[in-house]
This record gives sequence, structure tokens and C-alpha cells, in this order.
Amino acid sequence: MRILGIDTSCDDTGVGIVDTAAGRGSDAGTAAVLANVVASQAAVHAPYGGVLPEQASREHLSVIDAVVGRALEEAGLRARDLDAVAATYGPGLAGALLVGLSYGKGLAWGLGVPFVKVHHLEGHLAAAVPAGGLRPPYLCLIASGGHTVLFDVPAEGELRQLGRSLDDAAGEAFDKVARLLGLGFPGGPALAALAATGDADAVDLPRPLAGRGGYDLSFSGLKTAVAVRLEKDPGLAPADVAAAFERRAIDHLIGAATRAARDLDRHDLVVAGGVAANARLRGELGRAGLRVHLPPPGLATDNGAMIALAAARRLASGPADPGDLAADATPYLPLAAEGTRPRDVTRREG
Ligand code: KG4
Ligand code: ZN
Repeated sequence: MRILGIDTSCDDTGVGIVDTAAGRGSDAGTAAVLANVVASQAAVHAPYGGVLPEQASREHLSVIDAVVGRALEEAGLRARDLDAVAATYGPGLAGALLVGLSYGKGLAWGLGVPFVKVHHLEGHLAAAVPAGGLRPPYLCLIASGGHTVLFDVPAEGELRQLGRSLDDAAGEAFDKVARLLGLGFPGGPALAALAATGDADAVDLPRPLAGRGGYDLSFSGLKTAVAVRLEKDPGLAPADVAAAFERRAIDHLIGAATRAARDLDRHDLVVAGGVAANARLRGELGRAGLRVHLPPPGLATDNGAMIALAAARRLASGPADPGDLAADATPYLPLAAEGTRPRDVTRREG
């Protein structure tokens, strides 16, 4: 089954195509990624230091048709070879979501194939779960520019939220500190690259929520501490500041996940979202004594292939819901309330 997935939740126009038959059978976990095209709007938003929502939707609108065309070309397919189309319906920027969602519905309708609405975070998770699937119980940490949440998956299809950021998302904190250091936008990757050349011990920064226990996270105090230190001592080496911030932020994420693993006796951890691309996070997790499952490079930050992979998982467990064609763009969309199943949540909100 060939599935085209679209993500326009924020400032990247992502279109990917996966083929479930190219894996080892029809199991969604083995779907092969045939194409993954991402058109970045970073240059458009860079002068503003953040994403301009209205501009983001206009950009999506002007490139989406060409990005779909490039994905089909990369996969060596024509539109009529597709068996299903999927698109992100939330969470994200309303106007931006609308472009990919409407395009996806229209494409599916025109081709006469099923349409599958996908939760953006379910896409991130689908990209990180290993080929062949993962048997519960396991933990999931999602750390992106918009979300930082820790889930327990005690059984198939069940998600229990253990903790979340009480303020800024982890990636957002990376971007804000990068901005303080004059690294441009989006700053996470640039900050990480600079941190690799710095000395984390050279700048003393607080440990977020130190001694508090539990699984919640916080990044805005750390960001403010960086701002205060820079104001007091403008002569600090940016690389040292970057390294000190990165160490605290990454240790904070890993601390919550490893505490949860110990308390709940979990041995597998799925890490997803843009911050999963961070090299320090990957390195430190390797030493945490857990089996860690990360998305392959190229599937960590926002993309359409992850949306197609999530749709493949849905379609492996039953036919598409025709009601998905009526899905609205839903900017605020929790993945799961405590103890509820993701399907119940998407039905209610869709
Ligand atoms: O998942 P994603 O592509 O978009 C959202 O759904 O938010 O995540 C983007 C976030 C940005 O904040 C970006 O700065 C951060 O992920 N990011 C990183 C790295 N690469 C991307 N943060 C730290 N280290 C990285 N290497
Ligand atoms: Zn994302």
C-alpha cells in the first residue's frame, strides 16, 4: 500500500510517501520510505526571529503542489499509484494546518482513495518506533519546538501522560537561547553545533526543577538564567554558554525519562521530535541503560513521511474512517488525556 503523507503544521511543507508492501509484509512497522521532501521556510521567517503564522500559510499554499510533485518524482510514482492520502490535522498553526489538510483531502477525494487524518505527535512517534514495531510497555519522550511530553505506553494503543513542560518546549528553549547568542532562526541545530566546541563547566547554570522529583519539565527559567548571565558578563564565550545550556537542558530531559523508567520498570524509550536530532541527547541516552529508539536522520524534525507512517499503522489495524474527510484543522489537540486511548481523543476532537 502506497501512502502519501502531508505535514504543514508549522513552517515546513513536508510531503512523504511510504510503501507498506516494500517492507516484510503488510505490517505497518515495516513500511519503507520512498520519498521525503521538506521545503523549509526558515529563510522567510529568519528576519523576524520566529514564525509568522499568516506568512507560513501563504508559503505552504504557494509550494505545496510542487512539493507533492517532487515527492511523487522521488518515489517514481504517479498520483494514481497512491492507495491512500494522509495529512496532519493538529496541533499546529490553524492557517498552516488548513493548507496541507485541505490539499490532502482534495487529493484523496479526486483519486477516490481513503483519507486519513493524523495527529502531528502520532507522526513523530511513528517515525521513532523501530521497523517491525515495538511491544509495550515502553516510554515515549516527545521533544519538539512546540511540545515536550513524556508518555507511558503500558499496552498497545494506550497512552498515559506522565509529565510535560510546564512552560517552554525544549526546542523552543534551544531556539530562544540561540537567539540570545545571535545564532539566528531556527537556532537549535546551530546552538548544538556551537555547544560541541564549548566547555560546559565554564558557565554555571541552574538545574531546572532541581530536587522536585516527578516527571514534569521546565525550560524557561534556564533560558532566563542564560539571559541574566549574558547581561552580567557579556564577555562570556558563546560556545561555553551554549555548552552549559545544552548540558542542563538535555540532562533535564534524560533525568525525567530515566526516573520514569526506574519507577515504572520500563526498559524501552522512544524519543521523537526535532530535539531527538540532538547529538548530545543521543550520546547521553546511550549511557542511560535503556534500549533507546530514535527516528532515523531526516525523520526527526517535521516531515510528511512520518505522517504517512502513522497512517500506515492506522490502516494496518482497520479501514480508514470516512469521517476523516470532515476533519477540521485543530490547533490545540492533546495526544491523550491521562488514561485515555488516542483514538477516543481524535474521534472526539475531530
Ligand atoms: O519537531 P520539529 O521539527 O517541529 C515542531 O513540531 O516543533 O522540532 C523543531 C525543534 C526546533 O525548536 C529546533 O530548534 C529543534 O527542534 N532542534 C534541535 C536540534 N535540531 C532541531 N534542538 C536541539 N538540537 C538539535 N540538534
Ligand atoms: Zn513536530
